[in-house]
Amino acid sequence: MLEELHGAQRKHWQSVYTAHPEMYGWRPSEPARYAAEVFSASRAGSVLELGAGHGRDSLHFAREGFPVHATDFSGTALDRLRAQASHEGVAEQVRTTVHDARDPLPLPDASVDGVFAHMLLCMALSTQEIRAVVAEVERVLRPRGTLVYTVRNTSDAHYGVGTTHGDDIYEHGGFAVHFFSRELVDDLARGWRLREVHSFSEGELPRRLWRITQTTPRHPRPAS
Ligand SMILES: C[S@@+](CC[C@H](N)C(=O)[O-])C[C@H]1O[C@@H](n2cnc3c(N)ncnc32)[C@H](O)[C@@H]1O
Repeated sequence: MLEELHGAQRKHWQSVYTAHPEMYGWRPSEPARYAAEVFSASRAGSVLELGAGHGRDSLHFAREGFPVHATDFSGTALDRLRAQASHEGVAEQVRTTVHDARDPLPLPDASVDGVFAHMLLCMALSTQEIRAVVAEVERVLRPRGTLVYTVRNTSDAHYGVGTTHGDDIYEHGGFAVHFFSRELVDDLARGWRLREVHSFSEGELPRRLWRITQTTPRHPRPAS
């Protein structure tokens, strides 16, 4: 059933970005501003963004001087991102790859310093798929690398509203969201250093989110 939902969501996001190529605007999100500071403080040399959309936040990282690799399953959104990066003169800083978060990351082990994902892990992914994404992030991050991600949580007004797909996934207005419990956040931080879980809201609804910051251990964990 989730397979069907997933295909439908992919089509949905493609048509959303075709109709609204700049739907999130060009100002960076607050979590991206925060993440750029965290990445700078840890002297990160490279950033990977998952679910980058048309790139309001990837462009912020590029403007701040980070080489950024932006991924999303919408090629339409990433085309818009590349056009804007050229327009702003930061195209050399930005690489894009059409990538479904359910697939392994197209990057070698321990090859990036910072990973950012604003409202990607709370898309139509099962708990098992979310765990696999975080395991992939851990694989590609260097030791003491940082993951900053945001998710809508179970105190959001849309939690429990619309069509249920099980596993805390609800579809409302065509958008399917996996609402995170605090238990899930803690589960995903097992073996990492959980540095912060910060509550905030965004947009008109407003969406209730957590911004999570976690760091990989100094030495990679042995493969299980
Ligand atoms: C809520 S939007 C956020 C976009 C961007 N992070 C921002 O804040 O401007 C979620 C993004 O995740 C992408 N997405 C959803 N499911 C995905 C998946 N399974 N793999 C890759 N990208 C996905 C959508 O195309 C969309 O761009």
